Amino acid sequence: MNLKTIRMALWGAVAVFGVGVGALYFAGSGSSLKTSASQIASIGGPFTMTDLAGETVTEADLKGRKHAIFFGFASCPDVCPITLQELTAAASQLDKNQAEDLDIIFVSVDHERDTPEYLSNYLSVFESDSRIRGFTGTKEQVAKMAKAYRVYYKKVTQDDGDYLYDHSASTFLFDDKGSFEGTIAFNEKPSVVLQKLKNLLAS
Ligand code: NI
Repeated sequence: MNLKTIRMALWGAVAVFGVGVGALYFAGSGSSLKTSASQIASIGGPFTMTDLAGETVTEADLKGRKHAIFFGFASCPDVCPITLQELTAAASQLDKNQAEDLDIIFVSVDHERDTPEYLSNYLSVFESDSRIRGFTGTKEQVAKMAKAYRVYYKKVTQDDGDYLYDHSASTFLFDDKGSFEGTIAFNEKPSVVLQKLKNLLAS
Protein backbone atom coordinates (compact mmCIF):
# COMPACT_ATOMS: atom_id res chain seq x y z
CA MET A 1 0.00 0.00 0.00
CA ASN A 2 1.20 3.51 -0.75
CA LEU A 3 0.57 6.39 1.61
CA LYS A 4 -2.58 7.51 -0.12
CA THR A 5 -4.23 4.08 0.16
CA ILE A 6 -3.18 3.84 3.81
CA ARG A 7 -4.72 7.23 4.47
CA MET A 8 -7.90 6.22 2.65
CA ALA A 9 -8.01 2.95 4.60
CA LEU A 10 -7.61 4.85 7.85
CA TRP A 11 -10.37 7.26 6.98
CA GLY A 12 -12.51 4.31 6.02
CA ALA A 13 -11.89 2.82 9.45
CA VAL A 14 -12.73 6.11 11.14
CA ALA A 15 -15.93 6.37 9.14
CA VAL A 16 -16.95 2.83 10.08
CA PHE A 17 -16.06 3.52 13.70
CA GLY A 18 -18.10 6.72 13.60
CA VAL A 19 -21.13 4.86 12.25
CA GLY A 20 -20.63 2.23 14.95
CA VAL A 21 -20.55 4.82 17.71
CA GLY A 22 -23.58 6.56 16.22
CA ALA A 23 -25.49 3.28 16.13
CA LEU A 24 -24.53 2.55 19.73
CA TYR A 25 -25.55 6.01 20.80
CA PHE A 26 -28.84 5.63 18.99
CA ALA A 27 -29.43 2.18 20.51
CA GLY A 28 -28.65 3.64 23.92
CA SER A 29 -31.69 5.87 23.69
CA GLY A 30 -33.86 2.91 22.73
CA SER A 31 -34.56 -0.34 24.46
CA SER A 32 -31.95 -2.75 23.04
CA LEU A 33 -29.02 -1.66 25.23
CA LYS A 34 -31.19 -1.57 28.30
CA THR A 35 -32.29 -5.12 27.61
CA SER A 36 -28.71 -6.36 27.35
CA ALA A 37 -27.71 -4.44 30.49
CA SER A 38 -30.51 -6.05 32.47
CA GLN A 39 -29.53 -9.47 31.09
CA ILE A 40 -25.97 -8.96 32.29
CA ALA A 41 -27.18 -7.73 35.66
CA SER A 42 -29.30 -10.84 36.06
CA ILE A 43 -26.46 -13.37 35.88
CA GLY A 44 -26.42 -15.10 39.23
CA GLY A 45 -29.17 -15.33 41.79
CA PRO A 46 -30.55 -17.36 44.67
CA PHE A 47 -29.40 -20.98 45.03
CA THR A 48 -29.02 -23.68 47.65
CA MET A 49 -26.21 -26.19 47.13
CA THR A 50 -23.82 -28.35 49.17
CA ASP A 51 -20.12 -27.53 49.55
CA LEU A 52 -17.15 -29.89 49.77
CA ALA A 53 -17.57 -30.23 53.54
CA GLY A 54 -21.18 -31.30 53.07
CA GLU A 55 -22.48 -27.97 54.38
CA THR A 56 -25.31 -26.02 52.79
CA VAL A 57 -24.22 -23.00 50.75
CA THR A 58 -26.38 -20.24 49.32
CA GLU A 59 -25.78 -17.04 47.36
CA ALA A 60 -25.23 -15.26 50.69
CA ASP A 61 -21.97 -17.23 51.11
CA LEU A 62 -20.56 -15.57 48.00
CA LYS A 63 -20.74 -12.05 49.42
CA GLY A 64 -17.55 -10.58 50.81
CA ARG A 65 -15.29 -12.60 48.48
CA LYS A 66 -14.39 -12.14 44.84
CA HIS A 67 -14.91 -15.22 42.80
CA ALA A 68 -14.49 -16.93 39.46
CA ILE A 69 -17.28 -19.45 39.07
CA PHE A 70 -17.95 -22.04 36.40
CA PHE A 71 -20.08 -25.11 35.87
CA GLY A 72 -19.01 -28.60 34.87
CA PHE A 73 -18.51 -32.11 36.22
CA ALA A 74 -15.64 -34.02 37.75
CA SER A 75 -15.59 -36.74 35.07
CA CYS A 76 -15.31 -34.17 32.28
CA PRO A 77 -12.50 -35.27 29.96
CA ASP A 78 -11.42 -31.88 28.69
CA VAL A 79 -13.17 -28.55 29.26
CA CYS A 80 -13.32 -28.72 33.07
CA PRO A 81 -9.76 -29.86 33.82
CA ILE A 82 -8.42 -27.38 31.26
CA THR A 83 -10.45 -24.55 32.79
CA LEU A 84 -9.32 -25.43 36.31
CA GLN A 85 -5.74 -25.64 35.08
CA GLU A 86 -5.99 -22.24 33.36
CA LEU A 87 -7.56 -20.52 36.35
CA THR A 88 -5.14 -21.96 38.91
CA ALA A 89 -2.16 -21.24 36.62
CA ALA A 90 -3.26 -17.60 36.32
CA ALA A 91 -3.90 -17.35 40.07
CA SER A 92 -0.38 -18.63 40.73
CA GLN A 93 0.96 -15.59 38.88
CA LEU A 94 -0.90 -13.13 41.09
CA ASP A 95 0.64 -11.66 44.22
CA LYS A 96 0.02 -14.15 47.00
CA ASN A 97 -2.26 -11.82 48.97
CA GLN A 98 -4.22 -10.96 45.84
CA ALA A 99 -4.64 -14.64 45.02
CA GLU A 100 -5.90 -15.24 48.55
CA ASP A 101 -8.75 -12.75 47.92
CA LEU A 102 -10.11 -14.94 45.15
CA ASP A 103 -12.33 -18.02 45.30
CA ILE A 104 -12.38 -20.35 42.31
CA ILE A 105 -15.74 -22.10 42.44
CA PHE A 106 -16.53 -25.25 40.53
CA VAL A 107 -20.26 -26.02 40.37
CA SER A 108 -21.07 -29.59 39.42
CA VAL A 109 -24.00 -30.30 37.12
CA ASP A 110 -23.53 -34.07 37.72
CA HIS A 111 -25.82 -34.65 40.69
CA GLU A 112 -25.42 -38.44 40.41
CA ARG A 113 -21.65 -38.91 40.60
CA ASP A 114 -20.35 -35.70 42.15
CA THR A 115 -20.87 -36.19 45.87
CA PRO A 116 -18.97 -33.73 48.10
CA GLU A 117 -16.33 -36.44 48.70
CA TYR A 118 -15.93 -37.26 45.02
CA LEU A 119 -15.70 -33.60 44.06
CA SER A 120 -13.30 -32.88 46.91
CA ASN A 121 -10.92 -35.62 45.74
CA TYR A 122 -11.11 -34.34 42.19
CA LEU A 123 -10.45 -30.71 43.09
CA SER A 124 -7.60 -31.57 45.49
CA VAL A 125 -5.44 -32.26 42.42
CA PHE A 126 -5.42 -28.54 41.57
CA GLU A 127 -3.17 -26.34 43.70
CA SER A 128 -3.69 -22.65 44.21
CA ASP A 129 -3.24 -19.81 46.69
CA SER A 130 -6.82 -18.97 45.75
CA ARG A 131 -9.36 -21.02 47.60
CA ILE A 132 -10.96 -23.69 45.41
CA ARG A 133 -14.54 -24.43 46.33
CA GLY A 134 -16.87 -27.06 44.92
CA PHE A 135 -20.65 -27.03 44.97
CA THR A 136 -22.94 -29.98 44.37
CA GLY A 137 -26.68 -30.40 44.67
CA THR A 138 -29.73 -32.42 43.82
CA LYS A 139 -31.01 -32.46 40.27
CA GLU A 140 -33.46 -29.68 41.13
CA GLN A 141 -30.90 -27.56 43.02
CA VAL A 142 -28.45 -27.78 40.12
CA ALA A 143 -31.17 -26.86 37.63
CA LYS A 144 -32.14 -23.81 39.66
CA MET A 145 -28.59 -22.53 40.05
CA ALA A 146 -27.71 -23.16 36.39
CA LYS A 147 -30.80 -21.24 35.34
CA ALA A 148 -29.87 -18.30 37.56
CA TYR A 149 -26.42 -18.20 35.93
CA ARG A 150 -27.82 -18.80 32.43
CA VAL A 151 -25.74 -21.93 32.11
CA TYR A 152 -26.61 -24.64 29.62
CA TYR A 153 -25.97 -28.30 30.38
CA LYS A 154 -27.30 -31.54 28.99
CA LYS A 155 -26.66 -35.14 29.92
CA VAL A 156 -25.45 -37.22 26.98
CA THR A 157 -25.56 -41.00 27.33
CA GLN A 158 -22.93 -42.80 25.29
CA ASP A 159 -23.04 -46.14 23.49
CA ASP A 160 -21.33 -47.95 26.37
CA GLY A 161 -23.98 -46.70 28.81
CA ASP A 162 -21.63 -44.19 30.41
CA TYR A 163 -22.58 -40.54 30.26
CA LEU A 164 -21.09 -37.10 29.85
CA TYR A 165 -22.49 -33.62 30.07
CA ASP A 166 -22.43 -30.98 27.40
CA HIS A 167 -22.12 -27.73 29.26
CA SER A 168 -21.39 -24.01 28.95
CA ALA A 169 -17.69 -23.37 29.27
CA SER A 170 -17.55 -19.73 30.36
CA THR A 171 -16.20 -18.65 33.71
CA PHE A 172 -18.12 -15.83 35.41
CA LEU A 173 -16.35 -13.22 37.50
CA PHE A 174 -18.05 -11.57 40.46
CA ASP A 175 -16.86 -8.93 42.87
CA ASP A 176 -17.22 -9.13 46.65
CA LYS A 177 -20.61 -7.42 46.56
CA GLY A 178 -21.93 -10.13 44.30
CA SER A 179 -22.10 -8.06 41.14
CA PHE A 180 -21.21 -9.65 37.84
CA GLU A 181 -17.92 -8.31 36.44
CA GLY A 182 -17.50 -10.26 33.22
CA THR A 183 -16.53 -13.61 31.78
CA ILE A 184 -13.46 -15.61 30.87
CA ALA A 185 -14.01 -17.67 27.73
CA PHE A 186 -12.84 -21.25 27.39
CA ASN A 187 -9.28 -21.36 26.00
CA GLU A 188 -8.80 -17.62 26.46
CA LYS A 189 -5.15 -16.58 26.15
CA PRO A 190 -3.32 -17.06 29.48
CA SER A 191 -2.26 -13.39 29.48
CA VAL A 192 -5.90 -12.34 29.10
CA VAL A 193 -7.05 -14.68 31.87
CA LEU A 194 -4.41 -13.22 34.16
CA GLN A 195 -5.33 -9.64 33.27
CA LYS A 196 -9.03 -10.28 33.88
CA LEU A 197 -8.27 -11.73 37.32
CA LYS A 198 -6.01 -8.76 38.08
CA ASN A 199 -8.75 -6.33 37.06
CA LEU A 200 -11.27 -8.14 39.25
CA LEU A 201 -8.97 -8.16 42.25
CA ALA A 202 -8.02 -4.50 41.78
CA SER A 203 -11.66 -3.39 41.56
NI1 NI B 1 -16.53 -30.03 31.60
